Amino acid sequence: MRTGNTPWYNLTSAAAGIVLLLAASIQASATPNKAAVASAHPAATQAGQTILQRGGNAFDAAVAVSAALAVVEPQSSGLGGGGFWLLHQNESGRNIMIDGREEAPAAATPRMYQNADGEIKKRASRDGGLAAGIPGEPAALVHLAQNYGQLSLAEDLAPAIELAQNGVPVNADMHHLANFRKDLLKRYPASADKILTKAGEPLPVGTSLVQPQLAETLQSLAQDGKAGFYDGPVAAKLVAGNRSAGGIWTRKDLSDYSVVEREPMSGQYKTPAGQFKVVSAGPPSAGGIELLETLNILSGYQWSKLDRTHRVHLAAEAMRRAYRDRAAYLGDADFVDMPLAKLTDPHYAAGLRASITKDQATPSDALAPVTSAYRRQRGTDTTHFSIVDSAGNRVAATLSINFPFGSGVVAPGTGVFLNDEMDDFAAKPLTPNGYGLVSTRANQVEPGKRPLSSMSPTFVTGPEKTLIVGTPGGSRIISMVLLGILDFTHGGNAQDVVQHGRYHHQYLPDAIQYEPGALSPKVRHQLEAMGHSFKKVDHHYGDMHAIVVNHDNGQLNAASDPRGIGCAAVGTGGHSCALGDAIDADNRNAETH
Ligand code: DON
Repeated sequence: MRTGNTPWYNLTSAAAGIVLLLAASIQASATPNKAAVASAHPAATQAGQTILQRGGNAFDAAVAVSAALAVVEPQSSGLGGGGFWLLHQNESGRNIMIDGREEAPAAATPRMYQNADGEIKKRASRDGGLAAGIPGEPAALVHLAQNYGQLSLAEDLAPAIELAQNGVPVNADMHHLANFRKDLLKRYPASADKILTKAGEPLPVGTSLVQPQLAETLQSLAQDGKAGFYDGPVAAKLVAGNRSAGGIWTRKDLSDYSVVEREPMSGQYKTPAGQFKVVSAGPPSAGGIELLETLNILSGYQWSKLDRTHRVHLAAEAMRRAYRDRAAYLGDADFVDMPLAKLTDPHYAAGLRASITKDQATPSDALAPVTSAYRRQRGTDTTHFSIVDSAGNRVAATLSINFPFGSGVVAPGTGVFLNDEMDDFAAKPLTPNGYGLVSTRANQVEPGKRPLSSMSPTFVTGPEKTLIVGTPGGSRIISMVLLGILDFTHGGNAQDVVQHGRYHHQYLPDAIQYEPGALSPKVRHQLEAMGHSFKKVDHHYGDMHAIVVNHDNGQLNAASDPRGIGCAAVGTGGHSCALGDAIDADNRNAETH
């Protein structure tokens, strides 16, 4: 979990200037041929370890970690949301993308978030029942366990059910985010009951959050599989809860939902150290396409020979062009034709590269226009985890309910927060969403369509090592993963990948965004002289979890982002993640290059 692009609620003011506390969040080991789990919360990492110890494989562990995150980070992801699970089956060599993204209900229409004058009713796609898409996570967990796991779904869900029954301590992020969404949460008694005190304040840090209704919903899923959520009494409660909060869900929307197995995006990135295969999420995520497009552009430069200023310049120019193409073309592949082959073609990238001037920024409005609209980015929450098992199976998964606590609506009797992922659609073409992203009719709302996402669970395989990586962070997810890949492909380990200072360009606004300390005054000055402008983000962003596998000896190196409270554990013997760490808000760093 944790903040993404969040100028509107600064979680990290308390953390500003905090010294590095890497030891608590990063574990590495030289033990060969073991498993590793890296997730955003120690209890979720423990759940994954437990399932591996009980004979589960990486896919069972992915079910356990996803479900545990739904319990311990109700602000970030959950049964009321969705996500992408990128799988690698070692035996078959197959890479598979499980698309458990939310879907627009059948009664959704392209103009549902506009008033009669065509103006956007912006809260409507973010707060309340109308903001919620039909959840995909429960169906994805069932699909994963039934098709890829070795244990039963009930066994995989057991640790999460225990966490919901026994309670987990409220941590500072959860507390801050509940405070941030307090007024919304108060509108819905089941939401307030879950996360606020009787006086309407967020539960204090350290309070035990016990979630008996969520435990029951998980039990229903464990017992009856997909029908335990999408049909029967749970489905009835979900629909009633959504509609009483202004939504348009029907029982049929729920029973019609199914996950889609998709071919992930894949391509090559060439460096002097060798060729790297990059596998990442395809549509309805923009992640894989943008990563391949930016890497194709950057493969024309000798990255390791560039100084910091030129690295930032060229990466920002590559991002600018890829985010422009996202705005122009991308949406749900089941609804729109997209020029995917072109966007990921090295020749197309060569053309884009030719438009980049070595020492001068290209103004975004000099590119073929998509829009000139601009809106300040906003942030939310979401989560990522990475897993490797001793058989070499891998999972990278990024899961979300979009903004903190999603739509703010808990469907009464279920303990489940409904997402507000509908805001990832273009409420109106060329009008920015909550992350300042613009898109066209390719991403307009349509019944049964999945909103365009930035979530980018990714594998990168080079001659010697493989990286399993991803992060939350709204529109910045893709640039964070790109920077992590650049670190990895130029010799970095898991810790380098997750900890370095971050910068970002998304075409509009036409500015390089950067974390505190990520760009030195000297580098900024030089970039300014090239024509770049800046938008300093006043807090650290992202919560990346990475595992690096050494092909020769099976050695694993895993790291959780020091900006969050997550835990990376190598090996399954015992639990190396202490739950007590999870309430420490200040366990973040100010690390920069
Ligand atoms: O799918 C997406 O791109 C967004 N709903 C992800 C939201 C997110 O990462 C929030 N971050 N902290």
